[in-house]
Amino acid sequence: MPKLAVVYLSTQGSTKMMAEAIAEGARERHVEVSVDNFFEWDPEEAASADGIAVGSSTFNYTMHPPIAKFIDKMIDAGVEGKVGAAFGSYGWSGEAPVHIAKKLREAGMDVIDPVLRIQYIPNEKDLLECNRLGKDLAEKLKKK
Ligand SMILES: Cc1cc2nc3c(=O)[nH]c(=O)nc-3n(C[C@H](O)[C@H](O)[C@H](O)COP(=O)(O)O)c2cc1C
Repeated sequence: MPKLAVVYLSTQGSTKMMAEAIAEGARERHVEVSVDNFFEWDPEEAASADGIAVGSSTFNYTMHPPIAKFIDKMIDAGVEGKVGAAFGSYGWSGEAPVHIAKKLREAGMDVIDPVLRIQYIPNEKDLLECNRLGKDLAEKLKKK
């Protein structure tokens, strides 16, 4: 069974809701998923998964600095050729997922386009979109 790591930073829980829905979608397609806040993850362990979805809400027009550092450590552990996705809740500009996708692509990952952004708290329809992304990630992982 392919393995998917879902790593996120969420201050009020909106990006966390997205992460849980992405994880659920992938599980429904029979992928082994671990989903957790970035500070619970060891960057090397995240890098060892077959696919990695990384989420952060947008603060001051980018991702939060601690998750940027986490991504750099994960990249140092080796992520080339793996499947990726970027997501996050935002308020008005929503740059964080775009910046995450850029980092992952520059490290040689195959990142699903476009990134998934939800404004503020996800509603039911938004969560279905997140579930869909989880399923898309699972299908892509199974083809690798
Ligand atoms: C201090 C502060 C700065 C923020 N800066 C931005 C920003 O630059 N662009 C944006 O789109 N949203 C910004 N937001 C809005 C958050 O991204 C938004 O509230 C999001 O839903 C938080 O998701 P989370 O609960 O997963 O952290 C900011 C919020 C706060 C409190």
